Amino acid sequence: MEQYILSFDAGTTSSRAIVFNKKGEICSVAQKEFTQIFPQSGWVEHNPHEIWSSQAAVAAEAITKININGKNIAAIGITNQRETTIVWDRNTGEPIYNAIVWQDRRTSDYCDKLKNEGLLPYIKERTGLIIDAYFSATKIKWILDNVEGARAKAEKCELAFGTVDSWIIWQLTRGEVHATDVSNASRTMLFNISTLEWDEDLLKLFDIPRNMLPKVCDSSEIYGHTKTTIFASKVPIAGIAGDQQAALFGQMCVEPGMVKNTYGTGCFILMNTGEQPVFSKNNLITTIGWRLDRKTTYALEGSIFVGGAIVQWLRDGLKIINSSSEIEQLAMQVPDSGDVYFIPALTGLGAPYWDQYARGTIVGISRGTTSAHIARAALEGIAYQTMDVINAMILDAGVGLKELRVDGGAANNNLLMQFQSNVLGQSVIRPQTTETTALGAAYLAGLAVGYWADVNEIKQQWHIETQFTPDKAVDMQLAKRKWADAVYRSRSWAK
Ligand code: G3P
Repeated sequence: MEQYILSFDAGTTSSRAIVFNKKGEICSVAQKEFTQIFPQSGWVEHNPHEIWSSQAAVAAEAITKININGKNIAAIGITNQRETTIVWDRNTGEPIYNAIVWQDRRTSDYCDKLKNEGLLPYIKERTGLIIDAYFSATKIKWILDNVEGARAKAEKCELAFGTVDSWIIWQLTRGEVHATDVSNASRTMLFNISTLEWDEDLLKLFDIPRNMLPKVCDSSEIYGHTKTTIFASKVPIAGIAGDQQAALFGQMCVEPGMVKNTYGTGCFILMNTGEQPVFSKNNLITTIGWRLDRKTTYALEGSIFVGGAIVQWLRDGLKIINSSSEIEQLAMQVPDSGDVYFIPALTGLGAPYWDQYARGTIVGISRGTTSAHIARAALEGIAYQTMDVINAMILDAGVGLKELRVDGGAANNNLLMQFQSNVLGQSVIRPQTTETTALGAAYLAGLAVGYWADVNEIKQQWHIETQFTPDKAVDMQLAKRKWADAVYRSRSWAK
């Protein structure tokens, strides 16, 4: 009986399930968008039940499409939007509040307070992170402080916290397993990335009882078996990684110095730094890539909050396109942005600026500006943000960039990829499989159950589809200076 790996990709705006075969090829895909809840300005929530029901539905659809069942699935891998925080009742399995999404800014003021108390070096040394509302710790604290009865319940060991991976495993195993992996734990601001343990001092600082936290596992091991009715048989759940780390693995950036950028809702640029954490001097964060075969691989990360999401905003907010795919055509109607610069800081600026109060800014509009110029400037804004992160990464790593491997939805936009190569002055490489997030999780799961023998076998499956090289005729110097000026104008706006 032919065997496959099923990957659960629990993203920010949709749930996806992808079935891969032994060659790492996609055999079946199913996807379902779910509701984004915006209760107040700067707040973003998801309904945890909808996260699970959509994920369960796409898993069933993906396997039914190719007429297979649980017996054909050698293992399940899970990859997920990171940092998003869910707290549920251990006895009933009922969430006590909506999932607070990574983009949510409600704890910004509290984070400022921590920064003013001079806690930045203390937290960075342990977690590799910068103090920001982005990470889970302040979101958990907010739930405990604001949901009636939550703290009392937590003290009685009645609550469980998890990032989305933990929530899905809990559902798949019907409450038998409460676990996460090191890559997700490293995004909570509660995990010591050197000792690989929950940090007691940070738990005290944020007033979070340890009993709420999941067990932290490797990224490739058997965590438990499915108990849901989706699969007639028990399937091992054997791989977990946060989506950006999974993409780094799926892109086979397995040697130190290799870099990938995923153009999803946000843009996330990760550089493999090997078995030792590198602590950034240029406002990047240090994160755990994965733990495999008892070895931990670290990465430097530049997180950009709004990447492809700006295209959604042009579609749903400004309504200058009807579907995301129309953006490339619209932007191509003009030869350049007509001196318009678009800073997509709709939810603040992440790396390397970390300005929670920056907001989206368009500068340089003239009488001749058209929707095509705005569309082009929006795409260019994605590429310039990436350039800012890569410049910081080069300073931290002390070595230049050889190439940038790209994936995610907007990586299919040729105009954007060529512009990216021009601003970086480096090759941008798009692989044949751009579903690298799901693929990375599938690889981690497959390795745990012996579906693939080792990383060397997997490396043979990575192939280039297109290589974009810098257009030497284009001089980017003035444009880069103007971009820096435009970023300055977007700063601190919402303070
Ligand atoms: O850190 C947030 C990130 O994991 C979200 O990824 O692909 O859902 O935008 P994505």
